[in-house]
Amino acid sequence: MMVAVQEARFAALALSLSLCCALSSALSYGKAADSAWNGVESVVSRQGDTALLRCYLSDGLSKGAWLNRSSIIFAGEDKWSVDPRVSIVSGTGSKHEYSLQIQKVDVTDDGQYTCSVQSDHNPQSNHIHLSVKVPPKIYDISPDITVNEGSNVSLSCLATGKPEPTISWRHVTPLAKKFDTGEYLTITGITRDQAGDYECSAQNDISFPDTKTVRVTVDFPPTIHEMKFTGAGLGRNVLLRCEAAAVPPPVFEWYRGKKRLTSGPGIDIKTHTSRSILSMTNMTEDRYDNYTCVAVNKLGTANASVPLIPPNTALYGSTGSAEILSSCRYLVLALSSLISGY
Ligand SMILES: *[C@@H]1O[C@H](CO)[C@@H](O)[C@H](O)[C@H]1NC(C)=O
Ligand SMILES: *[C@@H]1O[C@H](CO)[C@@H](O)[C@H](O)[C@H]1NC(C)=O
Ligand SMILES: *[C@@H]1O[C@H](CO)[C@@H](O)[C@H](O)[C@H]1NC(C)=O
Ligand SMILES: *[C@@H]1O[C@H](CO)[C@@H](O)[C@H](O)[C@H]1NC(C)=O
Ligand SMILES: *[C@@H]1O[C@H](CO)[C@@H](O)[C@H](O)[C@H]1NC(C)=O
Repeated sequence: MMVAVQEARFAALALSLSLCCALSSALSYGKAADSAWNGVESVVSRQGDTALLRCYLSDGLSKGAWLNRSSIIFAGEDKWSVDPRVSIVSGTGSKHEYSLQIQKVDVTDDGQYTCSVQSDHNPQSNHIHLSVKVPPKIYDISPDITVNEGSNVSLSCLATGKPEPTISWRHVTPLAKKFDTGEYLTITGITRDQAGDYECSAQNDISFPDTKTVRVTVDFPPTIHEMKFTGAGLGRNVLLRCEAAAVPPPVFEWYRGKKRLTSGPGIDIKTHTSRSILSMTNMTEDRYDNYTCVAVNKLGTANASVPLIPPNTALYGSTGSAEILSSCRYLVLALSSLISGY
């Protein structure tokens, strides 16, 4: 069937242009092309670009034809192809250019093209292999995710390109940890340090890599890593500062002894993400007590306490590890209220 079609075209062309010999050699070459790669000129073009396959007629009397595999595109100046993207670039001058221009090349244009030249019963075929390359493009990447600490996380990044792009992952941190290349990135037992942006990069030798980023949020319950006060003199202002690590950011609660504190006259509570500051103006006697900061998020609760004591009795003024010192402090607090009674 193919052979019959080829021969029909062959005959037509032979009739119209007497390129019989030239085409015959072209077609027979086409069959042998796979085993005879060496003599084939190669043109590399990027998808969407205009490719120019060069061919020259030896003189003004020669006739040329262009074939895409075994289909005739041009016979002389006659266009046989219906493809609007193809045209002949015919230069005047001594070189008698008869080049084939293909606009907006695509991967389907990839393959072997033949320029057949018939001059004075001297047929000649130039074989040109057009190789269309495609820049890398990420077409699918995992959406941003939120997981609990300790979960297993699997991210995927799929890309197209020709040649097939190499996919790599990078954790976008100052250390910029790189992972083994591959479309899938698996993190077992994710830790809070592994939260952040993961950049997928698809790379081939055609152009800049294509990159896309996935944000991984790692939730974990609060821990309080700082709880201290500054200033505590009678009639003075006192600041209590509570800092927690938690994702999502915690909600803070403050207690004096067992009593919940809220902003009001003389008391102000301000919270910025992971830090809460309780400020009291005009410190009074009855406010010397045990203060507790509680941080809550959907994964858990943490609390830390500090006994607020007058400055003349404060040994260190503040503590970050309230629990260890608290009983000792409380003794001091008790003593101090005793002393201040006199
Ligand atoms: C070449 O042939 C292939 C396969 O038939 C076709 O898909 C492509 O569009 C052709 N390209 C040109 C430039 O003729
Ligand atoms: C996470 O992966 C490890 C190793 O593949 C497995 O043993 C563990 O059960 C997984 N954990 C969860 C929560 O799926
Ligand atoms: C501070 O509190 C004391 C006792 O309640 C009060 O006498 C004094 O006027 C207050 N001072 C200020 C500046 O509010
Ligand atoms: C503080 O934490 C302890 C255990 O860590 C808990 O028993 C206690 O109820 C907590 N206090 C508050 C006010 O949440
Ligand atoms: C302060 O209060 C907290 C919470 O109620 C409690 O766990 C802690 O033991 C208290 N500290 C002292 C010294 O009483």
